[in-house]
Amino acid sequence: MINECYYDDFDRKEGLAFDTKVVHGALGADPITGAVSFPIFQTATFRHRAFGISTGYDYSRVQNPTRQELERTMAILENGLEGFAFTSGQAANMALFTWLPCGSHVLLSDDIYGGTFRICDEIFSKFGCTFDYIDMSDLDTVRASLRPETKMLFVETPTNPMMHVADIAALAELAHSRGILLVVDNTFLTPYFQKPLDLGADIVVHSATKYLCGHNDVIAGIVVVKTPEMAEFFHAQLKSHGNGLGPMDSWLMLRGIKTLALRMERHNANAIAVAHWLRKHPKVKKVYFAGFEDHKDFAVTRRQTTGYSGMISFELDSLETTMDLLSRVKLILFAESLGGVESLVTYPMTQTHESVPEETREALGINERFIRISIGIENVNDIIADLEQALA
Ligand SMILES: Cc1ncc(COP(=O)(O)O)c(C=O)c1O
Repeated sequence: MINECYYDDFDRKEGLAFDTKVVHGALGADPITGAVSFPIFQTATFRHRAFGISTGYDYSRVQNPTRQELERTMAILENGLEGFAFTSGQAANMALFTWLPCGSHVLLSDDIYGGTFRICDEIFSKFGCTFDYIDMSDLDTVRASLRPETKMLFVETPTNPMMHVADIAALAELAHSRGILLVVDNTFLTPYFQKPLDLGADIVVHSATKYLCGHNDVIAGIVVVKTPEMAEFFHAQLKSHGNGLGPMDSWLMLRGIKTLALRMERHNANAIAVAHWLRKHPKVKKVYFAGFEDHKDFAVTRRQTTGYSGMISFELDSLETTMDLLSRVKLILFAESLGGVESLVTYPMTQTHESVPEETREALGINERFIRISIGIENVNDIIADLEQALA
């Protein structure tokens, strides 16, 4: 087989700063035409010039140059070996859990995203897998919950929506001492603020729909792995499930990622200001924000992250105030998602965490007065003014 691929020769941008890497991606400019904006290869299949001669691409379900540029960019940004781009965060997690042998036991964060809970509870439980949802920020609880058949720890940190922070390095040490895989959902912080693989995690997953995309216009998922064995597993998943991200959406993701560093700085600065403002409001009973210095896990946050992103949750004084807020916000949009340039307010009880059993939700504190807000990159005074009028 003669390989005529022009796209093999990318560099990992070693030595460059993160905010340079996001701009230049893996190949960056197209090696054939010099196009500065990496092309959208909107093709299902690839011509072979003759028998035994290939460009390295056969069929877009298996691999497509635009998707590959995104996957390599994400591997560079997360300091991993290979990346994989899926049609959604859910699709990425579905592929991940397929790795579990039947009968496996998995520990997950207790206030995990409702969709991840649904994958475990409704789908993989059919294959004899069992799942325990625990406080991953408490190492003693994690240690006590391990079983001989535990195969994976799946951690969101900070958690969605209670903002518990788990110690990734400590969990990695514990997991590896028992031959267990540590997976981190890095959706909330992105590699701009937190690099789980550097801290010892084995796999990173993302709802790339959120901060990585950043513009509320694409649904996508990312997995980044460290080892050739895991890379082979995810290649096979994409090929067999046929859930690889399409070329147009891959390009939109690449475009979004170019401004990731700038956006994350602004989300973070805005959220710090809004979180402190909310804390002083008489109708706000409690604010959950990983960036508070008196947050119970702040020492861990300091150690493993360089920022907090734009995610804040809070509890209001009454159901009436809560309903008023949801109907009165004007600039902030009442919509289910996070991480985009527009500020969004979400009602976890009936939106993101609807799939979680009521008693679990109640125990966690996700009640009818509980709100989650994703602070966008608008002028922070306008965000606060909108909250002020909605809470008046
Ligand atoms: C932390 C987290 N992980 C995974 C997902 C699932 O991602 P997607 O909506 O892209 O399928 C979400 C969605 O909200 C999420 O918030």
